[in-house]
Amino acid sequence: MLLLFLMIVLGLIIYGILFSFIFQLLVLVFDLYARKYGAFYASSQRVKVDQMIQFAQPLKGKQIVDLGSGDGKLVIAFARAGAKKVIGYEINPFLVFLSRMKIKLLGLSKHAAIYYQNYWEVSLSDADIVVLYGIPWMMEKLEKKLRSELKQNTRVISNMFPFPHWKYKKLSHGVYLYEKY
Ligand SMILES: C[S@@+](CC[C@H](N)C(=O)[O-])C[C@H]1O[C@@H](n2cnc3c(N)ncnc32)[C@H](O)[C@@H]1O
Repeated sequence: MLLLFLMIVLGLIIYGILFSFIFQLLVLVFDLYARKYGAFYASSQRVKVDQMIQFAQPLKGKQIVDLGSGDGKLVIAFARAGAKKVIGYEINPFLVFLSRMKIKLLGLSKHAAIYYQNYWEVSLSDADIVVLYGIPWMMEKLEKKLRSELKQNTRVISNMFPFPHWKYKKLSHGVYLYEKY
């Protein structure tokens, strides 16, 4: 009986490790494809997330959009910090699956959602705050899109990379704050 129990536990552990390995491999394979459209997959550091939330205050009643939501770290952090609605656009289907699972498990579905969509193809005119962790080559193109689509007073918070022509309002911990006038 004990042997059977041990074998089941061992089987579950091996299954878990294999599943996690295959899942991470699939994330990486799709990441190669996602790089054509924007930044590769990386998660914002905790200190940056805190700074982004600070720049976004007050959050109450705000709709926030994360351009390339990865594993959902920013979306979840903003929803937990009190945003009314946080939307993440993500092009890697395995990261969409992972982040949706996390949102469901954390009971945040009322305030957070992930769309399996290319953010270059969506209108950002409803956003109150846009957050992103991009890559240098996309910043000029994204600057044009944001400045033509965003409504007045929308804040844009960029982790790590600045826009080439837009003058930022604040910079702290490598996080840039912009405002659309
Ligand atoms: C650097 S990660 C940022 C993840 C998350 N926002 C964070 O800060 O932790 C960038 C993400 O953008 C996604 N991505 C790249 N181009 C995209 C596009 N055109 N539309 C939607 N997602 C995209 C990538 O798959 C990747 O997960």
